[in-house]
Amino acid sequence: MNQKFIFIFTLLAALLTVNAIPFQKRKTEFIVCPGSPDGVFNVKMNPDPVILGQNVTFDIFATVTDDVGDNGSVVVDFNDANDDSLLSQSFDLPSVIKAHSAINDSFSMPVKLSSLPEGYYIQISVISHTNGGPFKEVACAITS
Ligand SMILES: *[C@@H]1O[C@H](CO)[C@@H](O)[C@H](O)[C@H]1NC(C)=O
Ligand SMILES: *[C@@H]1O[C@H](CO)[C@@H](O)[C@H](O)[C@H]1NC(C)=O
Ligand SMILES: *[C@@H]1O[C@H](CO)[C@@H](O)[C@H](O)[C@H]1NC(C)=O
Repeated sequence: MNQKFIFIFTLLAALLTVNAIPFQKRKTEFIVCPGSPDGVFNVKMNPDPVILGQNVTFDIFATVTDDVGDNGSVVVDFNDANDDSLLSQSFDLPSVIKAHSAINDSFSMPVKLSSLPEGYYIQISVISHTNGGPFKEVACAITS
C-alpha cells in the first residue's frame, strides 16, 4: 500500500517537472502599459526570445485615442529592472494617423547587446507629435 503511494507520488512529481519546462519557454506576452490610454495593443515578436546581435521584428497592431499627427513615431525600449535604458530605437510613422484609427505595422531592429540582465523588459510606445507641440505617449505596450 505504502509503496503504491510512493510510486504515484513519484509519477506525479515527474509529470509536474515535465510540465514545468514549456512554461519557461512560453512566448513573450505584451500587455497595455499600466496608466496608458485604453486601447488595443497587440504585439508579435519574432524571434521570441530575442537573439542577441540579431534583428528582432515587432508586428504591432494598436488603436489610438489621440491624433498622432504628422511626426508620430514608435519607440522600442529595452530597459533593465531599474528602468534604465539598455537599448532604444525610434521609427517614424506615416503622416497623419487619426485618432481611433489603427497602426498596423512591422518594425525591425538589431539587438545590439552582449547580454540581457535578469528582469529586463521591452516597452513599445506610440508617440504623437502634432504641429511642433509636445511629444505625447498615446499608446503603450509592455512585456508582462
Ligand atoms: C495588418 O496588416 C496585415 C497585412 O499587412 C494583414 O494581414 C492583417 O490582417 C492586418 N491586421 C489587422 C488587425 O488589421
Ligand atoms: C535589421 O533592422 C534594420 C532596421 O532597424 C534594417 O535596416 C536591417 O535591414 C535589418 N536587417 C535584417 C537582416 O533584416
Ligand atoms: C514634422 O517634422 C518636420 C521636420 O522636423 C517639420 O518640418 C514639420 O513641421 C513637422 N510637422 C509637424 C506637423 O509638426
